[in-house]
This record gives sequence, structure tokens and C-alpha cells, in this order.
Amino acid sequence: MIILKKLNRLIQKSILLILLISFSISTITFSQNNGEKIFLTVCRACHTIGQGKLVGPDLVNVQNKLTEDWIIKFVKSSQSMVKSGDSSAVSIFNEFNKVIMPDQNLSDTQIINIINYIKEKSTTVSTTDVVVTPPFTLINSLGFNLDQAGKEDVNFGRQYFTGEKRFTNGGPPCLSCHNVVKDQLISGGLLSKDLTNAFTRLNAAGVDAIISSPPFPIMRTAFTEKEITLDEKYYLLTFLKQTDKDAIYQHPVNYDKKFIYSGIVGVVILMGFFGLVWSNRKKVAVNKDIFNRQKKSK
Ligand code: HEC
Ligand code: HEC
Repeated sequence: MIILKKLNRLIQKSILLILLISFSISTITFSQNNGEKIFLTVCRACHTIGQGKLVGPDLVNVQNKLTEDWIIKFVKSSQSMVKSGDSSAVSIFNEFNKVIMPDQNLSDTQIINIINYIKEKSTTVSTTDVVVTPPFTLINSLGFNLDQAGKEDVNFGRQYFTGEKRFTNGGPPCLSCHNVVKDQLISGGLLSKDLTNAFTRLNAAGVDAIISSPPFPIMRTAFTEKEITLDEKYYLLTFLKQTDKDAIYQHPVNYDKKFIYSGIVGVVILMGFFGLVWSNRKKVAVNKDIFNRQKKSK
């Protein structure tokens, strides 16, 4: 029996050891994360290196323009720098229509790796050329581009956005999440922003990039292995474009209000309904009868 117990302990210990080892191996490989990989998964949605501006500025040779320390601080929390009044941060923030660059939970080493990657990549592009961002085109599987989209397409887009229509790969509807995010933004004291004018602020290429590879951790996690298909993206973009154009779109705030109003209306209707159903109910306490009878019998 004792031998068996000892064996058991040994097995338990070795399992723990194996777990520990594999955990440290995975953290080692993660901390060795090269700059290129992070750049492509996180920064690329908004930045190019020598291909013109996207959502954010072209980062070609950014290391010559800004110090490493500055970049590290900015990548970790661009808004704290803007709020602290750092002149470079404020001016670039204003230049880019006050689009908030999301905070990145990266270590100094990881950011330095990214800067090294940018430095290396910058040598391969000619900076004397004036870079004009090529016009954005998205062609759906039927061969139509965004300008050719009709009412139907906008409507499909709305349905995908709200969740009326499910995404093929099971991603969550946009609306559900942006509500939550918005609430957090308000309570966090940040500028509240919705997607009504996303098209104007981010332009088609930016919105496309964000949907294709979300740079925001929460959104990225939600769509990991639940990629939005080309046609779904086409519908969403058509919808967001139209929304932006006529700005009559019920953005999250209005949805909230709608929910509240429909809630109130619902309660009123229900109360009326209960009132009807129980209109014949006894209006006095049940034992009142008994009480009266007893009073009489006295
Ligand atoms: C959601 C889009 C977005 C993502 C993702 C993003 N950025 Fe930015 N970035 C911006 C915008 C927009 C600006 C312009 C400043 C502002 O609006 O605050 C900016 C500015 C910068 C600047 C200042 C450039 C200058 O010329 O002053 C640096 C450096 C930078 N980003 C690096 C990064 C790095 C590195 C990553 C990836 C870890 C990254 N950004 C991810 C949107 C983004
Ligand atoms: C799991 C939550 C979640 C879901 C689902 C989600 N998003 Fe996001 N999205 C975010 C977060 C977080 C941000 C960054 C914070 C912010 O700017 O509000 C963001 C930002 C964006 C932005 C940039 C906003 C801006 O003006 O800078 C766009 C565009 C966007 N999302 C589009 C979509 C679309 C389209 C869908 C549906 C396919 C979607 N999102 C679904 C969480 C989500």
C-alpha cells in the first residue's frame, strides 16, 4: 500500500513538473516573440511601413523621428501621453482625426523588437518616393465592388451587424459587443465613440483592416478562428458606409434607449394585462369573509 501511495505521489509530482516545464517553454517562446509577428498581427491593421497612411501614420523610419522611449510609452498608452499634453502625441492625435490608438499590453522588449523590425523593413523601401495609398477596393464573390452595392446589400449588412443573421464561422454579432464596450468607455471616462462615422474617420481601408484582423484584444479574441467571410465583410462595409452617409443609423446609444423604452412599454402592457386577468379577483383579504361570518355568529 505504502509503495502504491509513493508511486502515486511520484506520478503527481512528475505531472506537475511536466506542466511547469511546458508552461515555461511556452512563455519563453512568447517572450521571444519577434517584432515582425507582433507587427503583422497587431499594428498592421492600422499602419504600413512605406505604403502610405492607413488608420494611423506610415511608420517608415519612425525610429529617426521619435525616440525609443517615446515610442514605448506611446504604444503602451497613447492616450495618457495625449492627456499629459506631450506635444508630439497631441499633434499626431489631432492630425489623425482623434482616432484613439488602442493601448497595447506589450513589454518593453517586445516593443523594441517591433521598432527593430520597422527599422529593418524601412531600409527596403525607398523613402524618396511620394507614397500614395492605393485606392481601396473590395470585390465580393459575385464581382461587385462597394459602389455597386444596393439596398439589399445594406440590409444584409445591418442583419449581420445586429445578429439577425449569423456569421458563417460563428463570430459574435457586432452590436452586442459594441454596446458593452461603449458602456465601459463611458465609465472609463474616455470619449465615447460608436461606429456611425467609422467610415469617415477610418476610411474603407481602415474599417476593412479592423474587421479582417482586429487590432483590439477583446475584438481579436472574439473573432479568433471565427473569421468573417469576404461576402460578410462586403455586406458589413456596405452597411457601415451607408450608415455613415445618412447618419440615421440607430447607433448603440439609441439601441440602449430603444431597449429601455420597449422595456417600459412592455411592463405597462403586462401590468394592464394582469389587471384584466385578475379584475374579478377578491378585492379584500380572504379571511375578511371568515372574520365577517364570525362577527355575525356572535
Ligand atoms: C486601431 C489602429 C491602430 C493600431 C492597431 C496601432 N496603431 Fe499606432 N497609431 C494609430 C493612430 C490613429 C495613430 C495616430 C496618433 C493618434 O491618433 O493617437 C498612431 C500613431 C502611432 C505612432 C506615432 C507615429 C508618429 O508619426 O508620431 C507610433 C510610433 C505607433 N502608432 C506605433 C504603433 C505600433 C508599434 C503598433 C502595434 C503594436 C500600433 N501603433 C498599433 C492607430 C493604430
Ligand atoms: C467582443 C467584442 C467585439 C465585437 C464582437 C466586435 N467588436 Fe469592434 N471593437 C471592439 C473593441 C474593444 C474595439 C476598440 C474600442 C473602441 O474603439 O470602441 C472595437 C473597435 C472597432 C472599430 C474601430 C472603432 C474606431 O472608431 O476606432 C471598428 C470599425 C469595429 N470595432 C468594427 C466591428 C465590426 C464591424 C464588428 C462585427 C463584425 C465588431 N467590431 C465586433 C470589440 C468588439
